Amino acid sequence: MFRSYSFLRVFAVAALLALAAVWAVPLVRAAEGPLAPVNLRCEYLKNPVGIDVRQPRFAWVLHHTERAQVQSAYQVLVASTPESLAQNKGDAWDSGKAASDDSTQVVYNGKPLESDHSYWWKVRYWDKGGNASDYSQPASFDVGLLSADDWKGQWIGGANQLRQEFTLAESPRRARAYICGLGYYELRINGKKIGTNYMDPGWTTFEKRDLYVTYDVTANLHRGANAVGVMLGEGWFKSRVLLLQMDIELASGKHVSVTSGPTWKAKNGPIVSDSLYDGEVYDARLETPGWDLPGFQDDGWKPAESVKAPGGVLSAQMMPPIQDVDSMVPIALTNPQPGVYVYDMGQNFSGWVDLHVNGPRGAQVQLRFAELLYDTGMINRENLRGAKARDIYILRGDGEECYHPRFTYHGFRYVEVTGYPGTPSLDSLRGHVVHTAVKTTGSFVASNPLLNQIHKIIRWSDLTNLHSVPTDCDQRDERQGWMGDAQVSSEGVMLNFDMAAFYTNFLRDMRDELGPDGTMTDTVPHLTHGSRPADPAWGTAFPLICWYLYLQSGDLRLLQENYDGLKKYVEYLHSRAPDNVLRFSYYGDWVATEKTPGSEVSDFYYYYDTLVLSKMAAALGHSADAASYAQRAGEIKDAFNKEFFDAKTGNYTTGTQTANVLPLFLDMVPRDYRGAVAGNLANNILYEHNTHLTTGLAGLRYLMPALTQNGHADLAYDLATQTTYPSWGYMLAKGATTVWELWQQKVGPSMNSQNHHMMGSVDAWFYEALGGINVDPDHPGYRHNRIEPQVTRDLTSASATVGSVRGNVTSSWSHEPGIITLQVDVPVNSTASVSVPKEDQMSDITIHEGDRIVWEKGHFVEGTPGVTAGKLDGKRVVFEVGSGHYVFRVSGE
Ligand code: BGC
Repeated sequence: MFRSYSFLRVFAVAALLALAAVWAVPLVRAAEGPLAPVNLRCEYLKNPVGIDVRQPRFAWVLHHTERAQVQSAYQVLVASTPESLAQNKGDAWDSGKAASDDSTQVVYNGKPLESDHSYWWKVRYWDKGGNASDYSQPASFDVGLLSADDWKGQWIGGANQLRQEFTLAESPRRARAYICGLGYYELRINGKKIGTNYMDPGWTTFEKRDLYVTYDVTANLHRGANAVGVMLGEGWFKSRVLLLQMDIELASGKHVSVTSGPTWKAKNGPIVSDSLYDGEVYDARLETPGWDLPGFQDDGWKPAESVKAPGGVLSAQMMPPIQDVDSMVPIALTNPQPGVYVYDMGQNFSGWVDLHVNGPRGAQVQLRFAELLYDTGMINRENLRGAKARDIYILRGDGEECYHPRFTYHGFRYVEVTGYPGTPSLDSLRGHVVHTAVKTTGSFVASNPLLNQIHKIIRWSDLTNLHSVPTDCDQRDERQGWMGDAQVSSEGVMLNFDMAAFYTNFLRDMRDELGPDGTMTDTVPHLTHGSRPADPAWGTAFPLICWYLYLQSGDLRLLQENYDGLKKYVEYLHSRAPDNVLRFSYYGDWVATEKTPGSEVSDFYYYYDTLVLSKMAAALGHSADAASYAQRAGEIKDAFNKEFFDAKTGNYTTGTQTANVLPLFLDMVPRDYRGAVAGNLANNILYEHNTHLTTGLAGLRYLMPALTQNGHADLAYDLATQTTYPSWGYMLAKGATTVWELWQQKVGPSMNSQNHHMMGSVDAWFYEALGGINVDPDHPGYRHNRIEPQVTRDLTSASATVGSVRGNVTSSWSHEPGIITLQVDVPVNSTASVSVPKEDQMSDITIHEGDRIVWEKGHFVEGTPGVTAGKLDGKRVVFEVGSGHYVFRVSGE
């Protein structure tokens, strides 16, 4: 008996062990624990080709099947071949098991990276219990040309088409093309356009910096004769020059380079003229078929000219390029006059149209672009001012022809076609939406359809004004990187799209414009519009965009790179404020309906910039600077109140909404007067303006947040959902499909773009207040989040997701009488304080998370995985949670 029992026991243990060996290990891996990292990025980009950073930074996103998980260690492998990586050999860098919770901004720390080399990498992580994930899928990055000496070619020009033939003795194993073609280029090899970029490279201050773009052209080249052709456009550079280098590794391992130089041939092609404002004239009769193929008879082509270099440092373009991101089918075609056809694309956007046409040689089709129509059905182009905004296509006359411009874009909803041979149909035109192709990472949706429509037109305005820099508008003779517009929209833009690489680049553009005396410019790059020094509400884009991007990303290198420049900028402001009040201003609260003194707006930004600089100094560990700027900020605040505040009335300056909003937003109001100032603001909105706003560019950005911070989220909501002038609802009622520049509806020759993103700055409030997702400034990069949705008025639900550097953060709530449900997603390696709203009249509340009670009879109930604490904070209960998906449900009497 005893023996058999013991035998059974031994057998059972052995069987269990065997099962564990066969099943348990893979099962645990697949169903539980840390999952292999995903979304691997290098310098914020997915598998970038051509970076010029010697110590690039890596980031990944983590998933885990348990709540409240963190990374306790990681291991990054960087290899010089995919084979080595597959064998887990990091021959360039093996970080080893690095005890760290950093899953973003992990700095490469291996062998020096080499120019014109490819690298492959992967990562695994250990969770808080020490369990390792599998390795991620491999990712890659290509290093471009790291130093000026790596460039062997010469700058050439002489015509808008340049070509060269060359022979390869063997087939290529690896080939990269490095190109800087200014103003814009189209690179073609053996008859094909390379890549999908348009209006490349990005706009910079050309005498300071010129961007080059790298392409993997291995598959485009072959043994024997090859040809490379480049078309050049004027762009913002207003001239045409090219530097190109193709570095080719042949099958034998031998290296050859093909570079631009005097042996190239030049001849003007079919683009007769191209201009950003005026459009393109394309004479298809001047096409020279085969010019980008080997064996072409290039009689009549002249040697390319050697030209002066544009003068800037050559830097890799490390941001998403401008691309054709979407096509638009016209919704209507009318014929308001004989021979005049007008297409309605149904949406205002930036880009161009594809024209499909069949007709006699030499026939000339003109396309004119407009945002507006007259009552007659003809296009209204008065608001384009000096921009001709038209493309002309002259037919070859050999059958079906298709054309779109290359080196220009238009901002339009309507297209007028004249000179069309025959009768055009809806299929004769297709719209193409063209802008910097940033990835959508965020979303916002609410139960009130008006909010969703507002969000939609804001997204359109934000996106179609990304043209390698944030432009003010996309249609008229402007399209500049106006910094005031950029700064007010930037937070909303960052919440909607993956903007880190774009704004990192834009901040470098700003550093390029920073004067030795610390002055900034109103527009960056600074070409034709605006002034130096910048209006302080415009120049503030330098500190504020840097600060917002830091909050979103936790990117300390960004702060380091900009810190000296920002100090100079803030010191310049200081030099203009002898008594601690900065008064100079050009535009102030631009396009407000009620005027606030520009000096108050400028001084507010002087305070904001100094405050933010002190916080940056603290983050960087510059404690003496942090203390002295914090002290200065305090002095500026006191001087601001002395200069602009009237304690008798509780108003700042003119008592306009902007006048009171600015100090409320930054908590500058002396404590005893806070209620009075907030009350004056609410009264002004309610009684003096019948629940309408009066703010311009500056005040608007802070209006909703200031109201919300002061207990008036409901009033902010009423303003956001207003439908009469001035409001977004009014714009929509008048047919807006993008956000207007002005609150007023104007359609004449004055300044009245139909597509300006600046008044879309309210989108950040949709995410932060209605959705409820807030990054904690003390734990940037969404390391810690504050989830605090505003359940207000008739809104029955709102939902926001932000694609943070650590993964998706979601806050989604719904409200039915007596019950509020809040669903929250917190990525691994993040934590959150979740402020659960309740109805005002609810007294004895119970809060469930899933099917467990977490709050009852005024107390936190322990024991729910991931929910570590809960406490009453004013009217709301705030829970501390780790990563994971949570569903809180509040009910009460
Ligand atoms: C632009 C604005 C810009 C402003 C400066 C305008 O022409 O379109 O958006 O910020 O000038 O006041």
